[in-house]
Amino acid sequence: TEHLLGIKYLNKQDIDLIFKTADHFKAVINRPIKKVPSLRDITIANLFFENSTRTKLSFELAEKRLSADVINFSASQSSVKKGETLIDTVNNILAMKVDIVVMRHPNVGAGVFLSKHVDAKIINAGDGTHEHPTQALLDSYSIREKLGSVKGKKIVIVGDVLHSRVALSNIFALQLQGAKVKVCGPTTLIPKHITSLGVEVETNLKKALEWCDVANVLRVQNERMAINYFPSTREYTQLFGINQEILDNLGKKIVIMHPGPINRGVEITSDVADSDQSIILNQVENGVAVRMAVIYLLAQQIKR
Ligand code: CP
Repeated sequence: TEHLLGIKYLNKQDIDLIFKTADHFKAVINRPIKKVPSLRDITIANLFFENSTRTKLSFELAEKRLSADVINFSASQSSVKKGETLIDTVNNILAMKVDIVVMRHPNVGAGVFLSKHVDAKIINAGDGTHEHPTQALLDSYSIREKLGSVKGKKIVIVGDVLHSRVALSNIFALQLQGAKVKVCGPTTLIPKHITSLGVEVETNLKKALEWCDVANVLRVQNERMAINYFPSTREYTQLFGINQEILDNLGKKIVIMHPGPINRGVEITSDVADSDQSIILNQVENGVAVRMAVIYLLAQQIKR
């Protein structure tokens, strides 16, 4: 595709190609010399209108490992604060001869909107509660690495599905690859339309964990909640928090994932997050190779 705006716009062949390319780049970044000269002639702007640690640094590192020139923009320190619009901001950055824009924005559809109004390749690094395509790609890549394939695997996405762009992108990506997907959480945090995507809802955490091979545990997004939301943090942890005792009683060893940042002791306890069942830091490691693949493949379409 012309941009990476969401997993919704990809097909299985696109994902296979991204993973094959990521395999190559994962080998590259494990060599003593971690860089390739592929994108020496490409300039990339990372535009973050919302906070980030992993995604921002992972994109920047991926771009530098590909030898692209990189500029970083954080809205909170920019002229957005003086009232400059999104399109004006991006067109001014593009006037400096930028080829690819990576953007995180709090508004749903911000990447699609931008792709229609500016002349650059756009990569969505998270648009509000909508999609986070590179997170879903690195999540599936990490499942494939840990379990050999995604096809036929049972994945439960646990927690605050309602506010989660990670959940929606994961559902699309996992289904394209032939995985079975359930979501588990309080009904107030599960969107009503989720079953129309072919996803089953399980409100009993124990049953959901007994069913799955992999649990992808979401962060409770307090910043996106209205006040007095049910359940309270304490009730949430009692009903849906994942701790070692629950996992030990399953009689099998499931894989634990979390996109980060973690609310330790809320959706997951520290002993689980840091256990050998957890592949949380493998997800982060794989994010660089997967983002290198996405950027490299999009850059091949740029006329040079
Ligand atoms: N997983 C993720 O998107 O983390 P950041 O918000 O730190 O980028």
